[in-house]
Amino acid sequence: MAPESLAEQLVKYLTDVHAMEIQALAQMRKAPELAGDPQLASAFETHCTETERHESLIRERLQAHDAAPSRIEDLLGKLSGKGFTLFAQANPDTPGKLATHAYSYEHMELAAYDLLEKVAKRAGDEETAAVAREIRAEEHAMAVRIGEQWDRTVAASLKGRDAAETLDGYLADAHALETQSATLLDKGPKLVGTPGLAQILENHHAETNRHLEHLERRLEERGGKPSRVKDAALKLGALNWSGFWAANPDTPAKLAMFAYAVEHLEIGAYEQLTRVARLAGDGETAMVVDQILPEERAAAEFIFGTFDDALDASLPA
Ligand SMILES: [Fe+2]
Ligand SMILES: [Fe+2]
Ligand SMILES: [Fe+2]
Repeated sequence: MAPESLAEQLVKYLTDVHAMEIQALAQMRKAPELAGDPQLASAFETHCTETERHESLIRERLQAHDAAPSRIEDLLGKLSGKGFTLFAQANPDTPGKLATHAYSYEHMELAAYDLLEKVAKRAGDEETAAVAREIRAEEHAMAVRIGEQWDRTVAASLKGRDAAETLDGYLADAHALETQSATLLDKGPKLVGTPGLAQILENHHAETNRHLEHLERRLEERGGKPSRVKDAALKLGALNWSGFWAANPDTPAKLAMFAYAVEHLEIGAYEQLTRVARLAGDGETAMVVDQILPEERAAAEFIFGTFDDALDASLPA
């Protein structure tokens, strides 16, 4: 098979972000009623309008490259099974899970638009690059809005529930997330094709194993039942968060994008875990989480810093 041209690659990136926006629209339409808090609900409503505009801007760019709508349909048909599709179909059952999920999804979009801008520039398509930049800023702003409201998110999730009792569930959920991450980080370095990103993933794998030990210790010291950890892992599967890990990203750039989104799942989960721990009067757990959080943030930023290299390894020379 002949290697794909940059222009063909650009159409693929456009198709992927278009599919992401269609999935995002479905999420944003149901998110306000799940948010559990008027301020959070209104953030989702605002972003729903923005998402509608993103979808149509990207559709226009796709049409500029290949006007036949059947081609877009055709590309859309190939979507099922893609990691972000499975991910987007998650059904968060609490305001906290919704916020974690959305926080991660917005970061995935941010990463996707960052990559799209870079590909468009390399292909000499300044118009698409400008659209990507503009949308990226709105994804970023939405991610920041969610990230500024963890207190409200936690309050909405704990409504009518006992913090101490809920805490064990949050710990088990974090444990399930880290277990999934360890799997991704285990196979990641072999897939990436760029030494810098491989090294970052390997380093974070070691950190992740330590995080797992800390969480296990806290679960044990709190007298949590081991079955809780198993239940959380099962629920994670039901949420389809495992879609990321099952998706087998086909390029280094996509793997970097997924890894970046996964780190933000963890950041969202830990931001809430530390707050729930404090409300439950468990300073020890809060302290453990406050040590883990900067490592997750640093890993995310390191991964973001490799996007150019990842693209070099993904695109035709
Ligand atoms: Fe969007
Ligand atoms: Fe978005
Ligand atoms: Fe992590």
